[in-house]
Amino acid sequence: MARFTLPRDLYHGKGALEALKTFEGKKAVVCVGGGSMKRFGFLDRACDYLKEAGMEVKLIEGIEPDPSVDTVMNGAKVMLEFEPDWIIAMGGGSPIDAAKAMWIKYEYPDTSFEDMCKVFGLPKLRKKAHFCAISSTSGTATEVTAFSIITDYNKGIKYPIADFEITPDVAIVDPDLAETMPKKLVAHTGMDAITHAIEAYVSTANCDFTDPLALHAIEMIQHDLVDSYNGDMAKRDSMHNAQCLAGMAFSNALLGIVHSMAHKTGAAFADYGAHIIHGAANAMYLPKVIKFNAKDPEAKKRYGVIADYMKLGGNNDDEKVDLLIAYLRKMNDELNIPHCIKNYGADSYPVENGFVPEEVFLERLHDVAANAILDACTGSNPRQPSQEEMEKLLKCCYYDTEVDF
Ligand SMILES: NC(=O)c1ccc[n+]([C@@H]2O[C@H](COP(=O)([O-])OP(=O)(O)OC[C@H]3O[C@@H](n4cnc5c(N)ncnc54)[C@H](O)[C@@H]3O)[C@@H](O)[C@H]2O)c1
Ligand SMILES: [Zn+2]
Repeated sequence: MARFTLPRDLYHGKGALEALKTFEGKKAVVCVGGGSMKRFGFLDRACDYLKEAGMEVKLIEGIEPDPSVDTVMNGAKVMLEFEPDWIIAMGGGSPIDAAKAMWIKYEYPDTSFEDMCKVFGLPKLRKKAHFCAISSTSGTATEVTAFSIITDYNKGIKYPIADFEITPDVAIVDPDLAETMPKKLVAHTGMDAITHAIEAYVSTANCDFTDPLALHAIEMIQHDLVDSYNGDMAKRDSMHNAQCLAGMAFSNALLGIVHSMAHKTGAAFADYGAHIIHGAANAMYLPKVIKFNAKDPEAKKRYGVIADYMKLGGNNDDEKVDLLIAYLRKMNDELNIPHCIKNYGADSYPVENGFVPEEVFLERLHDVAANAILDACTGSNPRQPSQEEMEKLLKCCYYDTEVDF
């Protein structure tokens, strides 16, 4: 038996934030990141709407990008004291994911972070609070997904928490919030979204319910992302929906090893002064993984369908796979994202010598590859890589060399 789960309600379109006025409850905690929601006035508006709905409101502010286990535990303490019946998480993937994990700890104070990471092993939530997610970036789609990504900085590893229990009750997809994104964020989150849709479409857990969502998302992102990056606000609004459709697909069809590799390389070199930003990591690794996965006949056929959907041409599936890879690489160029870790600068832009030194990469390669294989996203990848293959694949992602195995 398979399961397909989405939020009970999704409010969308410009001004959808106002839906908060209709919520019923006594106390709401609002979780936000470093300040963008406050700066652009969305936080005040959200709090005013909740107060209009008769709720007492408390803020958890300052949730950092790529949130840590400590942030989760501290936020849960605030929730345990305040006892909200609504958790409203607002911002990019980081504050929303942190709030999801806080929610688990709030409902079950004895739960450890290790307990949370048992895939599809969470106890029933909603005994204390319901959850509303309001996304301000157009990529993670965490407002509709069963996932939360938390970083354990002691280990330098990102862990996905995965369970339909943490699929939000309500998602608000209001494009007004995405219009304030800086260009770089548009690029990274947009490539994250197309990776979600492509990985979901070729995942071994794909189904009739997820395929149309994935394909439509891919088609929309193909038409909207680069223009949105270049300042077209109608396309920016459309991207906000597209990424959400991709999220609906991957939350139910799961992902693949592009994400396994992004999760395990993201913080692995943080001691050298930077993260490899999630969306940029996906953008660099996706073409390599497509070539690797295309050795699986079913995956190759599915990449062919994607290429057809994108009207890329090609006389057979091999040609279609190559055209798809070339198209994605062109998108990276148009979005100023490098093709490989070697050329990934500390500010995420392409440079001659990136922030991850070659010898450090090679020294850590074995462990990063082993961790990537163990990542929760590996199980649904169409081709299961061995340790040796994962190391080779990561090397191709470091040097931008051809995948021929
Ligand atoms: N839960 C999931 O299903 C899922 C899926 C993919 C990725 N992730 C995780 O989500 C995180 C990345 O999330 P993200 O890409 O949304 O970015 P983010 O939440 O980390 O935000 C990045 C930066 O953008 C700023 N920002 C956010 N919205 C803005 C806006 N509208 N205008 C101006 N600035 C804005 C934030 O303040 C922050 O400084 C990573 O930890 C990643 O691993 C989760
Ligand atoms: Zn992602």
